[in-house]
Amino acid sequence: MIQITSIADMHAARRSLTGSVGLVPTMGYLHAGHIALATRARAENDHVIATIFVNPTQFGPNEDLAAYPRDLPRDLALLAEAGCDIVFTPTPEAVYPPGFQTYVTVEEVALPLEGARRPGHFRGVATVVAKLFNLARPTRAYFGQKDAQQARVIQTMALDLNFDLEVVVCPTVREPDGLAMSSRNAYLTPEQRRAAPVLHRALTAAQQAWMDGTRDPAQLRQCMLDVLAAEPLAAVEYVSAANAQSLAELHEPAREGVLLSLAVRIGRTRLIDNLVL
Ligand code: PAJ
Repeated sequence: MIQITSIADMHAARRSLTGSVGLVPTMGYLHAGHIALATRARAENDHVIATIFVNPTQFGPNEDLAAYPRDLPRDLALLAEAGCDIVFTPTPEAVYPPGFQTYVTVEEVALPLEGARRPGHFRGVATVVAKLFNLARPTRAYFGQKDAQQARVIQTMALDLNFDLEVVVCPTVREPDGLAMSSRNAYLTPEQRRAAPVLHRALTAAQQAWMDGTRDPAQLRQCMLDVLAAEPLAAVEYVSAANAQSLAELHEPAREGVLLSLAVRIGRTRLIDNLVL
């Protein structure tokens, strides 16, 4: 595996590749969810490019950019083991040099849910991912269902801007107790970690209600709220039952394609999770 840090070297490395390329964008501090993306990319492509970049433009002024966990040596070892050929680890100055002023704004699907609570977040995500698409020119790009809205934003951007690639969305990898793997889980104290599976329990309770015949989206949301209310450490930011394509909140019974999602604070750590019915 070779590590590349400059834009010019990345362009040159890409020019030398023939055959299919799988791209796995990450912010590092890798866990089994990230590695599942790399493993899938390895199985489906001639070459695999992973990126590690804690993208400043997708963090709000009061978010955890400075505190975001990092462990580059460990990440490099894990990516090499997963069979990556190239890992791109640019500096913020290389990605956003002085004079940078071009951003990608995806509209409707970026507005609700995370977009409403994290203004500017998806503009930062879409911008950096568009840049990575131009640098890696992938055949396929791999993203996790864990960040369902992010995946929809990127699918929409790829379609709208005619990126000639396939966006592959991979299932959420979970801890044995159901907690979705996340680099941010590292912030949790042992007591908070014991409370954190409540997100998944809330989702599966609403899924059970769905399987028992509940179709009223308000009842599905209430079902999640009831489970969350029983966990004193959980402060709910939102629960949602939305159209999985448009991400518009549902107010009428739906037949299928319902995205259940939620954002919950446990102490100072903000956790998200989702499930599609
Ligand atoms: P990051 O949070 O590091 O996640 C990188 C990729 O891993 C994303 O596609 C995310 O959805 C996926 N992922 C995270 N946890 C997962 C899990 N438990 N199971 C499956 N996949 C999981 O998402 C970002 O970085 C950034 O926004 C990025 C796309 C790199 C742009 O900066």
